[in-house]
Amino acid sequence: MNFIGRKHSERRSIHRIYKYHQEHILYYWDELTEDEQKHLLEIAGAINFRKIKKYYKASKTERKPIDFSLLKPSDYITSQEKERREEFYKLGLHALKTGKVAFLTVAGGQASRLGIDLPKGCFGISPIKQKSLFQLFAEKIFFYSNLYAQSLKWFIMTSIDNHNATVDFFIQNNYFNLDKENIFFFKQGFNPTVTSESGDLILKTKSKLFMNPDGHGGILGALTSQGYISKMEHFGIEYVSYFQVDNPLINMADPYFIGCHIAEKSDISTKVIQKNFAEEKLGVAMQECKTKKHRIVEYSDIPQEIMRQTYENGSLYFKMGSTGIHIFSVPFIKKISSKLPIHIADKEIILPNLSNNAEQEKKIPVLKFETFVFDTIPLAKKAIFFETSRNEEFFPLKNKTGVDSIETCVEGQNNLYRSWLKDCGFEDTDKIERCEISPLFAPDRAVFLETAKKKLSSIKEMIYENDNIKKEIYIH
Ligand code: UTP
Repeated sequence: MNFIGRKHSERRSIHRIYKYHQEHILYYWDELTEDEQKHLLEIAGAINFRKIKKYYKASKTERKPIDFSLLKPSDYITSQEKERREEFYKLGLHALKTGKVAFLTVAGGQASRLGIDLPKGCFGISPIKQKSLFQLFAEKIFFYSNLYAQSLKWFIMTSIDNHNATVDFFIQNNYFNLDKENIFFFKQGFNPTVTSESGDLILKTKSKLFMNPDGHGGILGALTSQGYISKMEHFGIEYVSYFQVDNPLINMADPYFIGCHIAEKSDISTKVIQKNFAEEKLGVAMQECKTKKHRIVEYSDIPQEIMRQTYENGSLYFKMGSTGIHIFSVPFIKKISSKLPIHIADKEIILPNLSNNAEQEKKIPVLKFETFVFDTIPLAKKAIFFETSRNEEFFPLKNKTGVDSIETCVEGQNNLYRSWLKDCGFEDTDKIERCEISPLFAPDRAVFLETAKKKLSSIKEMIYENDNIKKEIYIH
C-alpha cells in the first residue's frame, strides 16, 4: 500500500485507521482511483473512532432493561379540554401571524422498510394526483404563508445519502412555488454501522463504508453546530413546529397546539394519540413516578406484558402513543444541543461479495448507533403531551404493505377529506372512492370549513355530476 505524498489530514486519517485496528477497510486500496482513495480517507477522517468504540463497549455491557415499576402513564391535555381552547387558539394564532413559528421536517431517514431509491419525501402519496410528501407540505406552507402574511421558514434535515437528491427534487419542482430563500436544507451527522461481533467498520463497496444517519436526534447537534439556531434567533423565531417526513396529514400550523405550548410555557410539546392496540409500534408517553419527568419509551424497549397491561375496566394502562409531532421552544434546543443518550439498534445487512469469489453474499448482524429526538423530553423543565385524533393527523408511511403502508396512508387521506366534505353538510360522502383536497385550496379542516362558507356552490360543482356524487373528487 502506497501512502506516500498524502496530505496531512489524510495521513492523520490513515494513522487513526491503524490505531483503532480498522486497516481492513484499506484492503482494496491499490485498486482504487485517486478520488476514491481521497473519499475513503475523508470519510474515515470524519469518524470519531473513540466514540464508536465507547458505544460498542456500551452495547455489550450497558443495555439494562427499563424498570417499568418506576413509571406510570403521563398526564396529557385531552382533546375534550374545551375550557382553554379559546386561549390556546389566540396565542397560537398570534405566534403564527407574527412570524414566531418555523417549520422543521426530519427527512434524513433511510426509508429501508419502504424500500425505495428516492428520498421518502419525494414519494407520491396523495390519493389522486400522487403528489409527493414534500409537495403536500410545501403547498400547506405556501397557503399558511399567504394566510398569515409571513415569509414562513422551513428547515429540512437530510442525510449525506439523500441530501443532493432532496435538493434536486425541490429545484426540479421550482421549490413548489415557495421562495427558496425561506427553505433551509441541512445535513445531519452519521455514524458508521459496525459488526455486532467485533465492532469493526464494514466495507459497502471497495471504497465506501456502511454508514447510517445518526437518528432524528441528530437534529439538535446539526441545528446548533451549523448555525441554524442563530439564524432562527435572527429571524425572530421562538417556536419550531417539528414533524416527520412520512406523515401527509400533518397540520404543522395548528394554532391550538402551538398556543397550548405557549400557554403552558413548555420547552417541548408532543402530540399523542390513543394506541389502536396494545402492541402498536408507537413510542409511549410515560412519567417517572419519583422525579415526575416525562419521557417517551420506544416500543422496542417495552416488553409485551407491559404493553398489554390494563386497568380493571380493560382499558390499556399505557395507552398514549407518540405521533412524532412536536413544538420546540428555540432556547430549549439551544440549551440541550447534543446531550442525548445513544440508542443501539440490532440490524442485519447483506455483506457484499467484493472479491467476486465463489462465496455467496451473506447476512451479518450489525449495530446502528442513533439518538432520538424524544429523548429531549426528560431534559426539559416543562414538557407536555397534547392529545390529537389519529384520523385527523396521523397516517405515517412506513411500509410497502400492511400496517402504516402506502394503502393505509392513502386511505387515511381519503377518509379525512371525505369527512371534511361531510362536515360541510354534503351527503353520500361514503360513496366517494377517492378524494383529495389540495392544500392550496385548504390545508386543514378549519380553513376548509371557513372557505366552504364562501365557495359552497363551486365545491358542489366539483363534487356532483347529474345530481350524483362523483366517485373520484379532486378539490382545488
Ligand atoms: P423512522 O424511524 O421511520 O425511520 O423515521 P426511517 O429511516 O425513515 O425508515 P426505516 O426505519 O429505515 O424504514 C422517522 C422520521 O425520522 C426521520 C425520518 O426521515 C422520518 O421522518 N429520520 C430518521 C431522520 O431524519 N434521520 C434519521 O437518522 C432517522
